[in-house]
Amino acid sequence: MAYDIALIPGDGIGQEVVAAARPVLDAAAADAGFSLDYERFDWGSERYLDEGSMMPDDGIDRLRGRDAILLGAVGHPDIPDHVTLRGLMLPIRKRFNQQVCERPAVLYDGVESPLRGYGGGDIDLVVFRENTEGEYADVGGREHRGFDHEVAIQSAVFTRQGTEDVVRAAFEAATERGGKLTNVTKSNAQAYGMVLWDDVVAEVGEEYPDVEVERLLVDAASMDFVRRPDEFDVVVASNLFGDILTDLGAIVTGSMGLAPSANVNVEGDYPSMFEPVHGSAPDIVGQGVANPLATVLSGAMLFDHLGEGVAGERLESAVADQLADADAPRTPDLGVDAGTEAVVDDLRGRL
Ligand code: NAD
Ligand code: IPM
Ligand code: MN
Repeated sequence: MAYDIALIPGDGIGQEVVAAARPVLDAAAADAGFSLDYERFDWGSERYLDEGSMMPDDGIDRLRGRDAILLGAVGHPDIPDHVTLRGLMLPIRKRFNQQVCERPAVLYDGVESPLRGYGGGDIDLVVFRENTEGEYADVGGREHRGFDHEVAIQSAVFTRQGTEDVVRAAFEAATERGGKLTNVTKSNAQAYGMVLWDDVVAEVGEEYPDVEVERLLVDAASMDFVRRPDEFDVVVASNLFGDILTDLGAIVTGSMGLAPSANVNVEGDYPSMFEPVHGSAPDIVGQGVANPLATVLSGAMLFDHLGEGVAGERLESAVADQLADADAPRTPDLGVDAGTEAVVDDLRGRL
C-alpha cells in the first residue's frame, strides 16, 4: 500500500523539521508494510519573494485528492504574517473544510515541565479547536486609512454546523477517553457567537450523558492551564481561544517543539493536514537545533488518520522512549545541546 502525501515544508524551521522527520516516518511506514509517496511543494515565502504569491493559482486543486498533507510552518520575518498565512496555510484549512483541529498536550516521562510538581504522565489533555471560522473568519474591512477617523472591523463568524462539528468531535474523544470535556468560551462578554456555542455544547451534550461537562471562561481557563493542567482531559474552544490555549498546553508539557496537530477534514471529501503547532521560529532558523519531534508526532497522527494505527503507535512510543532516556540526544528547547539530526538518527535506531 502506498499513500499519496503532499509535502509542504514551508518556511524557516518548517523546512528543517520536515526534512528531518521524513526518513523517520518512512522507516516506521516500511516497518508496518506501507509506504508514503510524497509530492513536494516548495511553496511559501521564498516563492512569494520571487513570484509574488505563496502558492500557484491552482495550488488548492493540486492538493485535492491526496491522502493527506504534511506541512512544516509558514511565516517570514520580512513579509507581513497576514500575507503569508492567508496566502498558504489558512486557505488550505478553510477550503478543505478542516474544521476540527486536534492538538494533544502530553507531559512525557523524562520531560521537565516549567511548572513545579508535575512529572511524566501527569498532564495529558487534548484541545479540539474550531479551525475555519470564529475569530478567523475573513470578514471585516478597513476604511479611511491613515485618517483620525480610521476604522477597522474584524468580525467573528460562528455557524451552527461548524460549531457542531468540532463540539461533536470533542464529545466523541471525551467518550473514548472516558473522561470529561471542558467547554471554553467568553460568553459573558460575547453574547452572540459564544452563546450559540454554549447552546450547541448543551444540545450535543444531551447525546453524551456519560461525559461530564465543565464550563470555563477563557481567561480563567488560561489560568487553570497553569494552575491545574493535570485536571484537563478534552478541551473544546473556538479558533482563537484554541490557538492560544495550545501554545500554553505545549509549554506546560515541556516545549513548543513537542506539540503536534491534526487539521481534520469533516465535511466533503478533502485531505486532512498534519503540522506541528509551532511556527517558522526565525530566532533559531539555520542553526540545526529545531526540535523535530512535534513533526514526528504529527506524522503519528497522520498515520492514525490513514488507518495505520500500528505505525502511529510505534512512532509515538519511539518518541516516548527517547524522551524517557536521560542519555538520548535532545535539542536545546529541552535543555540539551544536541541538534535536529542527532535526535532523528537516535529515533530511527529506536524504531
Ligand atoms: P514560533 O512557534 O515560531 O516560535 C515561538 C518560540 O518557540 C521561539 O522561541 C522558537 O524558537 C520556539 N520554537 C518553536 N518551534 C520550535 C522547535 N521545533 N524547536 C525548538 N524551539 C522551537 O512562534 P512565533 O515566533 O510567534 O512565530 C514565528 C513565525 O511563524 C511567524 O511568522 C508566525 O506567524 C508563524 N507561525 C506559523 C505557524 C504555522 O505555520 N502553523 C504557527 C505559529 C506561528
Ligand atoms: C497555529 C498558528 C496559526 C493559527 C497562525 C500562524 C495563523 O498560530 O497554527 O497555531 O493561529 O492558526
Ligand atoms: Mn498558534
